Amino acid sequence: MNFKQEEEQSYWEEYYAKHRTNETPSLFAKFVEPFIIDGTSLLELGCGNARDSIFFAKSNKVNVTALDQCQNQINFLNSLGQSNINFEFSDFTNYVSAHKKFDFVYSRFTLHSVDKQGEQRTFNNTYNNLKEGGILFIEVRSIHDELMGQGTQIGPYEYITDHYRRFININEMIDTGLKANFKLIYKLESRDLAPYGDENPPIIRLIFQKSS
Ligand SMILES: C[S@@+](CC[C@H](N)C(=O)[O-])C[C@H]1O[C@@H](n2cnc3c(N)ncnc32)[C@H](O)[C@@H]1O
Repeated sequence: MNFKQEEEQSYWEEYYAKHRTNETPSLFAKFVEPFIIDGTSLLELGCGNARDSIFFAKSNKVNVTALDQCQNQINFLNSLGQSNINFEFSDFTNYVSAHKKFDFVYSRFTLHSVDKQGEQRTFNNTYNNLKEGGILFIEVRSIHDELMGQGTQIGPYEYITDHYRRFININEMIDTGLKANFKLIYKLESRDLAPYGDENPPIIRLIFQKSS
């Protein structure tokens, strides 16, 4: 079995058809919000139901562009007519912003949804999409997650259950960021960052800065 982008798209389309909205921002968004400066711009990679993008946009401090591969969900989010926010159907691993550079890029629970090459492309494109001094915030599942090992293994740390997950080795992801020319400014791997029902796995948080 191989990782297939179309199957992942279908999985998330079906998931968000049943979870179109969520009024509660993640704990990660609440952690990031104090870093956001008035009058800036933020790009979210893989927004899902946009719980976090809408939270950032409602602060009125930041203008948000939010990407996802789910066309129906993007259509639904644009139909809400939220101010300060624009939703775009896009594969974030290939997203190159032609005319606009962002102050912040935010990626929560998305980089473990793409393969290693997709992760590398995302870091390289994000570096180009950010302004000088811009900041990249990442939250992802770790190789120490109890879910790792469930389903069919298709590669190092890569498993398919009802969908694809590539659990992240923190040092390997830091290395990918450094190779893309980012400077690492924060790292943490801990429980209690994203508890969900009975699950409270160790989660990775990384913050990188574009600074030459
Ligand atoms: C686990 S959800 C997380 C959603 C949201 N960031 C949150 O924290 O609630 C993963 C999201 O990433 C999106 N996604 C995964 N790979 C993608 C890609 N290559 N391009 C765009 N979106 C992608 C999925 O469609 C899904 O909406």
